[in-house]
Amino acid sequence: MRNLTQDTITDYIASSFDTADKNRQTQLMTGFVRCLHGFIRDVDLSHGEWVKLLDFFYQVGEKTSEARDEFMLLSDVMGITSLVDLLAASKNPEVTPASPLGPFYLENAPVIHQGGMLCTDDEPGIPLVFNGVVTDEQGAVINNALLDIWHNAESGLYSNEDETQDDMNNRGRIYTDEQGKFIVKTIRPQPYSVPMDGPVGDLLKAFDRSPWRSAHLHVVVSAPGCESVITELFFSDCEYIDTDAVGGVRAELTHVPRYRTTERGETLFVEHHFRLRSLAQEPSRL
Ligand code: BEZ
Ligand code: FE
Repeated sequence: MRNLTQDTITDYIASSFDTADKNRQTQLMTGFVRCLHGFIRDVDLSHGEWVKLLDFFYQVGEKTSEARDEFMLLSDVMGITSLVDLLAASKNPEVTPASPLGPFYLENAPVIHQGGMLCTDDEPGIPLVFNGVVTDEQGAVINNALLDIWHNAESGLYSNEDETQDDMNNRGRIYTDEQGKFIVKTIRPQPYSVPMDGPVGDLLKAFDRSPWRSAHLHVVVSAPGCESVITELFFSDCEYIDTDAVGGVRAELTHVPRYRTTERGETLFVEHHFRLRSLAQEPSRL
């Protein structure tokens, strides 16, 4: 087209992604082009501003490595990860909602027996007992569901960002019993700041945004024949519960702390019912 104008450029590019069967890729790409062009029109973006934005993305790419996913961090602090999860949750309200994975997951955490510990007996922190049940969305208990659990230490640091901790400190996997139940012991996680030593941190600082994540337990729950869920559990008394930097908090995942005295001293008890989507139903779109 020779005489493209600001009124025709969007259709011109969007339609270039058209396919005869109007498949999902077409929907995604044409939608993306229209949304991006709409943003540029709305804010009347200048050439210099666009170059600055591209430079920011370039820095995000430079910072990204196998050990550090700055693009995912950007997605997290922009609320994109959470929005994708929330959309899925609205279509599947009967299953446990997802919440961001974060950058500190490690594969192959030790398998813990029922009642076992994610840390050593002398780990500093408030003792925590975490138990619950895993069922499908109809409430049928799931035997041998796997819960992969990890959280940070009293210092706020995860084991893989702190040389003073054992590699697998505050991490463990546990299988549910015949009643779908599990129980592990650990310590209460602490709030902490998302990684700030990269371009995403600079962005948060430039807008005086809080980098703090509300304290949480990470849990990935999986079982044969079910859709796995990556989720987190929160504590209603955490000072950052209403200002989580990545918008990960969900009402259904937030617990009012219950304390009881045990042989470990004043102990926090958290009980959670995880509901997995059975794949006998039509699988949801990933
Ligand atoms: C975390 O929970 O560890 C986390 C999640 C998103 C961004 C940064 C950290
Ligand atoms: Fe975390």
